[in-house]
Amino acid sequence: MLSEKTIAIIKSTVPVLEVHGTAITTRFYQQMFAAHPELLNIFNHANQKQGRQQTALANAVYAAAVHIDRLEAILPVVKQIAHKHRSLGVKAEHYPIVGQHLLGAIKDVLGDAATDEILGAWGEAYGVIADAFIGVEAEMYAQAEQQAGGWVDFKPFKVVRKQAESSVMTSFYLEPADGSRPAAFAPGQYVSVKLTVPGETYTHIRQYSLSGEPGQSAYRITVKREDGGAGQPDGIVSNFLHERLNEGDTVELSAPAGNFTLAASEGDGPVVLISAGSGITPMIGMLHQLKRQGRPAVFIHSSPNSAAHAFREEVRQLAEDGSGIDVRYAYTRPSDEDRAAGDGAAHLGRIDEAWLRAALPQEAADCYICGPAEFIKHVYRGLKANGVPPERIHYEFFGPAASVDGD
Ligand SMILES: Cc1cc2nc3c(=O)[nH]c(=O)nc-3n(C[C@H](O)[C@H](O)[C@H](O)COP(=O)(O)OP(=O)(O)OC[C@H]3O[C@@H](n4cnc5c(N)ncnc54)[C@H](O)[C@@H]3O)c2cc1C
Ligand code: HEM
Repeated sequence: MLSEKTIAIIKSTVPVLEVHGTAITTRFYQQMFAAHPELLNIFNHANQKQGRQQTALANAVYAAAVHIDRLEAILPVVKQIAHKHRSLGVKAEHYPIVGQHLLGAIKDVLGDAATDEILGAWGEAYGVIADAFIGVEAEMYAQAEQQAGGWVDFKPFKVVRKQAESSVMTSFYLEPADGSRPAAFAPGQYVSVKLTVPGETYTHIRQYSLSGEPGQSAYRITVKREDGGAGQPDGIVSNFLHERLNEGDTVELSAPAGNFTLAASEGDGPVVLISAGSGITPMIGMLHQLKRQGRPAVFIHSSPNSAAHAFREEVRQLAEDGSGIDVRYAYTRPSDEDRAAGDGAAHLGRIDEAWLRAALPQEAADCYICGPAEFIKHVYRGLKANGVPPERIHYEFFGPAASVDGD
């Protein structure tokens, strides 16, 4: 356990480190990758280039440090990160490497202000935080391996079907290459896909939500092709999957992970699923589950237009008369055809607070949001403004986790 003095030093230095947070973690990554280039097989290079991961890691370390004397208070956050670490293959032996380079970076950036006492306190605190992650992750690895059909790390899966779902989204049906049945999962969970792109030195790992139902012989993932647009490079993995991964090919998958599931909402009250773009993927599996349970649901989806809109037919079938499922669509960049179809087919424009009010059920509901970070923040605020309590709002970022309440 940490001494009171160490805790006091940690708490008093968090604000200073926060000011230098991004500088410290940027330096930390530079030094760590120089000493351990093999870690580039795990980290997302695009997130590195855009500084997104730096912010997520810095925030997590400082949040943990503030709660250092009662880490159990942030256990849900630790678990969410640990799910991602487990799906990526982060292991106990990686923690001392991260610790050594994080401390080195704090020392370099703070200079003389980083006294031996301060560095000693942070070394101890990092050890406590790392042990909490290692413990939670060890349980997750055991659970992933011991479940029926389970495995540790990555396992080859064969593409048995590839199907376009819209102008930008394509589904891949994936069966274990060894002929076994895939492990069960809870709708809303994701798998990590690991790729070796010919000609590239390091592997690439990305997460994709399972868009199908559990209990089938194949997992289904549905991938949006990320077009770089104005001057930015195209997304590496999504483009590879769309253009180069075909039926009969194999790809490596982690066991299912993540805690964005219906287990977060108790009882049998209504559930509202709100997604935009590729954020529809976890919602489809959840909608199948709600239908099986006979639980009332509102399914809200925002897409640029009908051409980019995936799973329209699958949702139509699930929401047949008497299903208790209410479906509402919004198109933010409607085509001429969409405009001609009128507001009955889809609301033309962004989802706002008033539109949400009309869509929400009368009864208290649990709400799930998934989509681009800005969409999640916008809808989160809209739900709160409509009186939905924060504990009933659940969300999943398709990138490094961010704050929903901040700017
Ligand atoms: C839990 C979870 C579940 C997910 N589920 C799904 C899902 O079901 N379906 C789905 O489609 N996606 C999903 N994602 C997102 C997915 O993991 C990938 O992030 C996505 O496919 C993009 O990966 P990529 O390799 O194609 O793009 P990357 O190469 O990672 O690039 C990402 C973006 O950054 C831009 N970029 C790259 N380099 C630079 C640079 N130097 N400067 C500026 N911009 C740059 C690219 O143009 C691109 O838009 C999920 C993510 C998470 C975390
Ligand atoms: C106590 C130490 C650590 C903390 C506080 C921490 C925190 C985080 C956070 C907050 C995220 C983002 C989670 C999300 O996207 O929702 C993350 C992702 C990640 N972490 Fe850690 N982490 C720690 C240790 C490690 C270690 C030891 C490794 C392995 C070398 C590692 C590798 C990764 C990778 C690869 C990602 C995915 C992000 C990406 O590639 O962009 N982390 N971590």
